[in-house]
Amino acid sequence: MAIKELTVFVVFSWIVCTTGREFFSSTDKVAQLFEEEKDLLESFRLYIDAEEKNVERMKSALLILQLYTYFDPENPEKTLRDPVAAYKLLRRVRKEWLTIVEFTQQSLYKKYQELLAYADIPELEDLDGAASELIRLQEFYKLYPHNITKETPLNADEAYHMGFVAYDEDKFQHAFLWFSYSLDRLTEYSTTTEEKLLHFLSSSAYHFGSLPVAIYFGQRLLNLDPTNEKIKVELSLYKLLRFQRTSNPDIFTLNTKSDNSYEALCRGEVDERTSKRQRALSCRYSTGGGNPRLMYAPVKEEVEWDEPRIIRYHDIISDREIEFLKNISRPQLSRSETRRGISNYRGSQSVFLEEDNTVLARISQSIADITGLSMESAEGLHVQNYGIGGRFGPHYDTWDDENGRIATFLIYMSDVEIGGATVFPEVGVAVQPKKGSAVFWYNLHKNGKLDLKTEHAGCPVLVGNKWVANKWIHEFGQEFRRPCSLSEWE
Ligand SMILES: *[C@@H]1O[C@H](CO)[C@@H](O)[C@H](O)[C@H]1NC(C)=O
Ligand SMILES: *[C@@H]1O[C@H](CO)[C@@H](O)[C@H](O)[C@H]1NC(C)=O
Repeated sequence: MAIKELTVFVVFSWIVCTTGREFFSSTDKVAQLFEEEKDLLESFRLYIDAEEKNVERMKSALLILQLYTYFDPENPEKTLRDPVAAYKLLRRVRKEWLTIVEFTQQSLYKKYQELLAYADIPELEDLDGAASELIRLQEFYKLYPHNITKETPLNADEAYHMGFVAYDEDKFQHAFLWFSYSLDRLTEYSTTTEEKLLHFLSSSAYHFGSLPVAIYFGQRLLNLDPTNEKIKVELSLYKLLRFQRTSNPDIFTLNTKSDNSYEALCRGEVDERTSKRQRALSCRYSTGGGNPRLMYAPVKEEVEWDEPRIIRYHDIISDREIEFLKNISRPQLSRSETRRGISNYRGSQSVFLEEDNTVLARISQSIADITGLSMESAEGLHVQNYGIGGRFGPHYDTWDDENGRIATFLIYMSDVEIGGATVFPEVGVAVQPKKGSAVFWYNLHKNGKLDLKTEHAGCPVLVGNKWVANKWIHEFGQEFRRPCSLSEWE
């Protein structure tokens, strides 16, 4: 009974969620781990209960077996000369052995091990991937370990892992700062040792080019372990090099220079819209040029930028519709690819929703009404959930193609607390996600050429869970809706 209960429980709870592994590229998938953890612990509890019952049964069996020997005392001498006593002994031992085999076979150990193999547990790559994304976030937003752990402190072992991943990726300054954070939090319960940390602190500082710091930590390690021959050799090397190297970079202060406009925009260091030009931009209610469906329920339209024209439409999708879209997308999400395949450039999971349903039809109709464009050649709605530190580097939505993506309608299905803006580095504009709103722009000029100013990117999500849906609208079918032009300039 116990075995059956356990089997049914474990198989049901785990089979359900084994689609699409890889946790760190979708925060929604990370959230599933809460349930996973509950199931894991519950199954462990059931397993222990079942084993305890088993142990009780085995103890009773042992008592009975011992009782036989008590009532049936035989000494070796008697058994040697009495064939009947010998027979009785043989039979008894045989029976005892059979009983023990039978009872120990009832252990659930093997079965439980097999069941555990079905569990959807993060792989080591997931763990390293999450640490790696955290370090990329730190680089991007220039965050020290103490900045990023303000809400959720890490213990010495966790911080050591962060440092180790940074070290492995040759990011020696971040590695150093994490090892130092770990050293500050070392307790008697840590598995990380002071020796290990001092070794890595010294080595990170050396690789970063800060020799006095490398020597300082090397010396501390030597004081702790005077027999360490390796550090003696390293120390003498560092001391020699100290006089040859000229620069001594400051390893304790993050380098904050960056001339990358994408990153600067994401950090909020520049935003052209604070200028006079922004104040001239307008906000109004639109009826899509007199569209009957919008006459009585006009949409609130806000011009985010004039060239390229980026327009925000507010309240174009309800919370209920958003929940529905997330519900049907969740089971189908898989790692988003770029034109060159899977890459760090795009940290999210996504799906094209192609099926017929009333919500998708309503959204499609609504986009057609608002933009005045035909949805005939548009792609299915592309729903996307970003991962830990999820971003999408600068890119264009269209490329040289006979039937290119003339326009993009980007719907925000969540607010994002910090980070996650859509930025246009060529024009210096950052658009913040706002749940239920959408932004719209043309990727192509009227003459059919790519508008180079529409290059855009998704900033890494620092705090929050970012969901978006894209509707990419193609050229074919728009001939009478957006007349083309032969001008070089339109
Ligand atoms: C990180 O901490 C430093 C000082 O410890 C502070 O100056 C800086 O503003 C913090 N950065 C962020 C983004 O919070
Ligand atoms: C979405 O899924 C949840 C959980 O299965 C369900 O409770 C909710 O009613 C669903 N919402 C919509 C709008 O389909």
